[in-house]
Amino acid sequence: MNQIENMTGQTKKYIFPTDFWWGTAASATQMEGAADEAGKGPNIWDYWYEQEPNRFFDGVSANVASNFYHRYEEDIALMKELGHNSFRLSISWSRLFPTGEGKINPLAVDFYNRVIDELIQADIEPFVNLYHFDMPLSLQQKGGWENREVVMHYVDYAKTCFELFGDRVSKWFTHNEPIVPVEGGYLYDFHYPNVVDFKRAVQVAYHSILSSALAIQAYKEADQAGKIGIILNLTPSYPRSQNEADVQAAHLADILFNRSFLDPSVLGTFPQELIDLLEEQNALPVMEETDRQTIAAHTVDLLGINYYQPRRIKVKEHLPNPAAPFMPEHLFDYYEMPGRKMNRHRGWEIYEKGVYDILTNLRKNYGNIECFISENGMGVEGEEQYRDADGSIQDDYRIDFIAEHLKWVHLALEEGSNVKGYHLWTFMDNWSWSNAYKNRYGFVGVDLASQTRTVKKSGHWFKQLIEDDGFIK
Ligand code: BG6
Repeated sequence: MNQIENMTGQTKKYIFPTDFWWGTAASATQMEGAADEAGKGPNIWDYWYEQEPNRFFDGVSANVASNFYHRYEEDIALMKELGHNSFRLSISWSRLFPTGEGKINPLAVDFYNRVIDELIQADIEPFVNLYHFDMPLSLQQKGGWENREVVMHYVDYAKTCFELFGDRVSKWFTHNEPIVPVEGGYLYDFHYPNVVDFKRAVQVAYHSILSSALAIQAYKEADQAGKIGIILNLTPSYPRSQNEADVQAAHLADILFNRSFLDPSVLGTFPQELIDLLEEQNALPVMEETDRQTIAAHTVDLLGINYYQPRRIKVKEHLPNPAAPFMPEHLFDYYEMPGRKMNRHRGWEIYEKGVYDILTNLRKNYGNIECFISENGMGVEGEEQYRDADGSIQDDYRIDFIAEHLKWVHLALEEGSNVKGYHLWTFMDNWSWSNAYKNRYGFVGVDLASQTRTVKKSGHWFKQLIEDDGFIK
């Protein structure tokens, strides 16, 4: 391994356990393409694009995406070449059940069987996620996550997946970032159905949590040997100062955006302050009597942590318009820390220690639950400018980004964190919702017109890291 010297001329070896999970994460809608082929039904992304193509960067839909549906063999071979021992994908609900319920699509069963088998043959463990933002259209037309009936259809879908693939898949996830469809679809207008309504957002959040607990229950009842978890974007909330008012504002943001999902998923309970806050806003969700027991009894075995950037908070400085409907931001203001380190290609702050703070919090306050970094990564707009004469993207900034985060993961491990792996978002550049192909994240670059894959410098670096069980920096 090459010795990389740091500024002070000192180097340190960061060695990880030999069985650490190294790989990448992706999702069905973002990579598969074949959006209206082979019996797949439409989901909300297909529909929304049809209605409002202008909402999508450069007017690009998910129709072709990275064409994984047709090129999965080649892509899995490349994952193997880059040293992956694990890969997270999601199943497209509307590919398996074109209307979200009822009749199954045999071509989808065949496709996911082939993908899972191909991964296993390549010694890459499939981590399978059931829901990554892609509600089948016909269920959205019945109210989506607002409707309890949809929760029951989701549980049937989950059971079917366990039956079909559970003999070979032993890491399951009920949702990826379930707060994002709440934020995007029901608060901030960046996902379909573009509703802005706090009370409805809470109902959607509540049903997502309930659906996760019910899927966990179904998995346990199926008596399969694996583990089941959830993937959460845990964004630490840092107060501007230690002034009591700033600290309290950051605490409220933490309760709303992190603990709302983390506590029920891992501890089986909701923070009392969250319940009080919802009551004050007359926004408590509609529940059934046994729900609390269901949630308490079916917590996760394993937690995926997505971490990109911190949330910086200060006390609310200007009172909201009394006529404006309640929004979480009525309780705090966002704060831009002077001198913060930025990923200027995406407009996001880079704060590597955040990943350590999350792991430490889990170790101290959440029973040191078994976990892994399920997404971390650096989106870059206009990445073409870094392509060299040989055609490969020279993404030293991404290598640096990953290494600086891994240093903190390593420290957390040394201190006893139960962190088991690291997955980059993502394997190859993919379609990212309304940002389409704006920000590139992959170890592998994808030329959209020709669909050519080219490994970036970071991909080669990651391969070496896996071979060496770590790196020197
Ligand atoms: C993650 C999501 O939060 O962010 C992914 O799980 C998404 O689905 C990724 O693609 C990057 O988002 P963006 O907006 O920078 O392209």
